[in-house]
Order: sequence, then structure tokens, then C-alpha cells
Amino acid sequence: MTETMNKENMKPINSSDNALNDELMNDNDMAKDGIEIEKDSADITQLRTPIKVDLSPVYNFLGTQTTQAWVDAAINNLPLIIQDHANCEKKAAGTAMNLIFRYEFSYDLQCKLAQLIREEMLHYEQVLGIMNERGLEWKYLSAGRYAKGMLKHKRTYEPAAMVDVLIIGAFIEARSCERFASLAEVIDDERLAKYYRYLLKSESRHFEDYLALAQSLSEDNIDERVAFFKEVESELISSPDTELRFHSGTPA
Ligand SMILES: [Fe+2]
Ligand SMILES: [Fe+2]
Repeated sequence: MTETMNKENMKPINSSDNALNDELMNDNDMAKDGIEIEKDSADITQLRTPIKVDLSPVYNFLGTQTTQAWVDAAINNLPLIIQDHANCEKKAAGTAMNLIFRYEFSYDLQCKLAQLIREEMLHYEQVLGIMNERGLEWKYLSAGRYAKGMLKHKRTYEPAAMVDVLIIGAFIEARSCERFASLAEVIDDERLAKYYRYLLKSESRHFEDYLALAQSLSEDNIDERVAFFKEVESELISSPDTELRFHSGTPA
């Protein structure tokens, strides 16, 4: 049996304890603010995948699951999905930056979205790195119907407009998370699968942050609005779509 040194107390531990030890160290590391940020890197080979991310809040929030047809189409068109993923990360940061400029009165919104922008731009760098290592040249891809399909229902007066944008943000983040998880499960590309699993932790937090902001900044209960966008989003995800994108519907 091989022996290695436990860094904490410098006592030898046997290999059967290693998995548990790694898990504990990983959890401890992640519990300390700041350390996790230091470990995040634009180079995906340096990333550590969180041991377990509970996605049940994401699945409960969304009204529908991604279809097998979308997963199959995505796997058969990975360069396009990777390109659109890069676009999505950049847009996520841009949308959050617009909110930061528009709603300066909320300390909570400023802090949560500043962190989110930092993380989305890191994801953008990481996806650029993935494109580069695979020799994928940047290609222009038009936006799909997904975000527009929800934003057209945004109310036009404040604070309702702000609340709707935050709810839509929650759906986009939750759906991203669900799609990364569904791709990671079946993709025959361990490097990409590992990267998609790495993204689950931050994207599920982004969903929760957007939803919590929407509720805390609204005078009314937002359940009815959430239920409304849940239906709109489900329809966009499950109905036939002629374009394949990261957030597209069932391939037509
Ligand atoms: Fe992201
Ligand atoms: Fe995100």
C-alpha cells in the first residue's frame, strides 16, 4: 500500500484514505472565501472541479428538461456550441454590467453582479482558451431566439422592468446550468465534460443570486411573474427551433 503525507499534520496516510482526504481538503478550501478565486484560472488544466453541486433547485425552478434531440445535435456540432458558449459568457457579463449602471441604488445588486461579471469574464477567457487549443477560429454567430423571446415580455415601467430582467437572468443562468450538466453526462470528451462540471457551481449560484435580487428588490411577491416566465422559457426550450444554439429549442 502506498503512503503519502497528509499536508495538514504531516502524518503518513494510506492510499485508501486519499479520496476522502482530497474531498475534505477540497471542501475546506472551497469554504474559505478568496482561496477559491485564486484557484480559478483562465487555463482550464489548472481548474479543480467541485466534488458535488446540488442541482435540484435548478431542476425545480425550470419547467422542462432539455430534450435528447438537442443534446444529440449539440454533441454533433460541438464547434458551434463552443462558439455560442463564448458569446453567452460575454453577453452574460455585458447584461450584468448594464444592470450595474442602471440600478446603482442597490448595494446588494452592485456586489452580486460585480462578482458575477468577474466570473463570466473568466469563463469567457477559459472558453477562448478552449477554442484556441482546438484550433477553432472565431466565427460570427447571430443570437438565437431565446433571450429575445423572454425579453419581449419585459414590462416597460420601473421597478417592474428591473424585476423582470432579473427573473429572466435567473432563467438564463438556470438553463445554462441544466445544459452544462446534460452535456457533461454524455459528452465523449473528458476535458470538456470536466470543464462543464466545473461551471455548475458558479452558474447555479448566478441563478440563485438573480432570483434573490428579483425578490428582494420587488415590493410584490414575484411568484406569479416567475411562473409566467417559466412557461415562456419552457416553450422556447421545447418547441421546434431551426437554429442550433446553446439555448435553442428542440432541433426542427
Ligand atoms: Fe458563465
Ligand atoms: Fe453565469
